Amino acid sequence: MVSEDEPSPNAPAYHLIELPDPPPDRPYVFVNMVMSADGRVVIEGTERGLGSKTDQRLMRELRSLADVVLNGAGTLRASGSSSRLSDPALEARRAARGRPPVPTAAVVTNSADLPLERAFFTADDFPAIVYAGADAPQPRVDTILATGRPVVRLPSEGAIAFLLSHARHELGARALLVEGGPTLNGALFDGGYVDEFFLTLGPRVVGGHQAAAAVASARPPSLDAVTQLELLSAHPNPETSELYLRYRIRR
Ligand SMILES: NC(=O)c1ccc[n+]([C@@H]2O[C@H](COP(=O)([O-])OP(=O)(O)OC[C@H]3O[C@@H](n4cnc5c(N)ncnc54)[C@H](OP(=O)(O)O)[C@@H]3O)[C@@H](O)[C@H]2O)c1
Repeated sequence: MVSEDEPSPNAPAYHLIELPDPPPDRPYVFVNMVMSADGRVVIEGTERGLGSKTDQRLMRELRSLADVVLNGAGTLRASGSSSRLSDPALEARRAARGRPPVPTAAVVTNSADLPLERAFFTADDFPAIVYAGADAPQPRVDTILATGRPVVRLPSEGAIAFLLSHARHELGARALLVEGGPTLNGALFDGGYVDEFFLTLGPRVVGGHQAAAAVASARPPSLDAVTQLELLSAHPNPETSELYLRYRIRR
């Protein structure tokens, strides 16, 4: 068995990837999800149980490439969110390149109705920031601020573009990792902000009629509007029966 802290010989070395330079107005944006063989990303309310320890290791390797790790509030409420690498070697590799050992965790919310008891708000081993929509009630924003985590208000128009611009110019982020969920992924794909999509395909059929897919897009599906992908790498893992896929978005 592969320990949590050790790369698997059957998995790609994602932590060694050199991402391209970002465009001037936002970070380079890459999305990472784990999905069942029938296209589901949620089982019994969370993603837990969909990915192996090796998949979780790859998730942390991808975090190590990022300056900011972003989640939607739905994911924070369902599973918690953090930017932890949980591996001194990954942290040391970042530090050697002049980066903070751990990326900044970020969450975006319209409601500001967030679980303040979660590590995202209580932990001191990673920095974190909340992006709150224009309509987020101020009293709730005040309770978030009382945890010590900063809150940045988003405009009512162009919220995602503003968030990405803020991450780039105020946080200095050159690479931003999105770890879901589907609603946030949809906003980013719809806006044309995603550069790469990492997908772990797991050896399970989940079933169900309403189970979530990796991207919940507001735009109606149409052949003219699909996002075209180019496969950059594919690694089968005979130990876990998972397939690790890396796509670039075709412009
Ligand atoms: N399989 C996987 O890899 C994976 C990864 C991540 C998550 N998940 C699963 O996905 C589920 C959650 O997904 P989800 O689609 O329900 O939620 P989500 O995408 O995590 O979060 C959606 C929420 O984010 C906020 N948000 C999104 N876009 C925004 C914008 N433009 N401006 C302001 N706020 C914005 C809103 O928060 P408010 O509601 O607070 O207004 C919105 O309801 C969970 O079950 C989780 O376990 C699976």
